[in-house]
Amino acid sequence: MTDYVKFFRDTSPYINMHRGKTFVLALPGEGIRNDNFGHIIHDIALLSNLGIKIVLVHGAKPQVDKKLAQGNVIPRFAPLHDSQSQATFEKDTRITDSGTMSCVKEAVGGTTIAIEALLSMDLPNSPMQGARLRVISGNFITAKPLGIRAGIDFHHSGEVRRIDRAGIKRQLEDGAIVLLSPLGYSPTGEAFNLTCEDVATQTAITLEAEKLIYFCRERGILDDQDALVKTIDMVDVRPWLRQLNEQVQLRDALQAGYDACLHGVPRSHLISYAEDGALLRELFTREGAGTLLSHHGGETIRQATIDDVGGVLELITPLEDSGILVKRSRELLETEISRFQVMVHPEGMIIACAALHPFPDTDSGELACVVSHPDFHKRGLAARLLQSIEQKARDEHQLHKLFVLTTQADHWFQEQGFKASSLDELPTEKAALYNLQRNSKILVKTL
Ligand SMILES: CC(C)(COP(=O)(O)OP(=O)(O)OC[C@H]1O[C@@H](n2cnc3c(N)ncnc32)[C@H](O)[C@@H]1OP(=O)(O)O)[C@@H](O)C(=O)NCCC(=O)NCCS
Repeated sequence: MTDYVKFFRDTSPYINMHRGKTFVLALPGEGIRNDNFGHIIHDIALLSNLGIKIVLVHGAKPQVDKKLAQGNVIPRFAPLHDSQSQATFEKDTRITDSGTMSCVKEAVGGTTIAIEALLSMDLPNSPMQGARLRVISGNFITAKPLGIRAGIDFHHSGEVRRIDRAGIKRQLEDGAIVLLSPLGYSPTGEAFNLTCEDVATQTAITLEAEKLIYFCRERGILDDQDALVKTIDMVDVRPWLRQLNEQVQLRDALQAGYDACLHGVPRSHLISYAEDGALLRELFTREGAGTLLSHHGGETIRQATIDDVGGVLELITPLEDSGILVKRSRELLETEISRFQVMVHPEGMIIACAALHPFPDTDSGELACVVSHPDFHKRGLAARLLQSIEQKARDEHQLHKLFVLTTQADHWFQEQGFKASSLDELPTEKAALYNLQRNSKILVKTL
């Protein structure tokens, strides 16, 4: 019970943070076929009832393929590379002739109805009891045909031309969930087959959504050791896109998230549609469940190397001279440099640093030398660096507590979740070195 109460309390900052924000969720057809689909719908209902404005964009590729197979219609795709015309397409694109389009309409219609039905459920003793959700779908997407490219006629395959921003916003303000399918309509009165990625990305951008959350088969992006890559900075996306060339769906999802962030959406997430609870864990826990892609204006955070000693000294020396920081010789810094993380400006300059000194015997670590360059103050850089150090302390060193000694920044640390502490709480070897003359405040944060 206490675990439950703690968990519930821990989620409240996230609930407050997300309330009233617009999230665009992209659920491909494969996710709708997955056993976990029902749970995803329950979790979406929960988000809506917590005051989050939800636009759910669904795909229907496997459902369309099934209809084509049932009707003996052969699926046709434009190849990535057409040797005859020498044309290169960004990805395999379906050619939607009239026979295919009939199947698309049936498959998409059936999928939309299945989602609407589940979101309307109100059974006693189910997570949907009392949810009373209103789901609105409609002609919010204006489409245009892909036309003829490199001699290939794409017929009813189209792309997003315009999104009815005011119309969707009105529904969201009214508390409805907006459900968008991969179909769009042209001013000539025709329907076009769109991709889920295109609809989701353009909707997130047009609505200036807070997040685009893309469901994929995988947990998110995985590194060479199959470990989940929890965050990717925008500047690092391109190499990942190249690396994912063989995993088409994941690459498309990452591309969609990247495009959304590039055009003003602050954060995109890739999470699994197969993992029960991934959506809630990603949104309401510090650890998350998938890969977060965010735009930080190009600064990168990385482990410092010996080559950074000069840059770090330049940053901290003025503060040492004014007595804010304890003096460190170049020699000491050289031996301690591996404990530092630095934030590097796209031009290469070090604009912030922080150090972590672990005390493994007490499961704690000292945070030291947290500095950001005065030209870059008040942009959240130090807070981001602190988050990164905290992650390292938790994940790499399995620490449970961080403490810091400061003479002038105790309020800043309090705003970052640190609490006033005392000499008794420090590891003995650190307490023995406490400089009474400096009279630094001691603060502690539980990780
Ligand atoms: C403390 C410090 C790292 C914050 O850097 P930053 O990149 O500006 O931090 P953020 O952008 O994340 O936070 C900025 C907010 O914190 C506030 N803030 C900054 N320094 C503060 C301090 N010493 N006390 C209280 N609040 C402070 C800012 O006013 C701003 O709040 P606002 O936006 O409401 O006005 C930076 O001011 C610094 O380098 N200070 C000198 C070094 C130091 O004392 N380090 C701590 C000892 S290890």
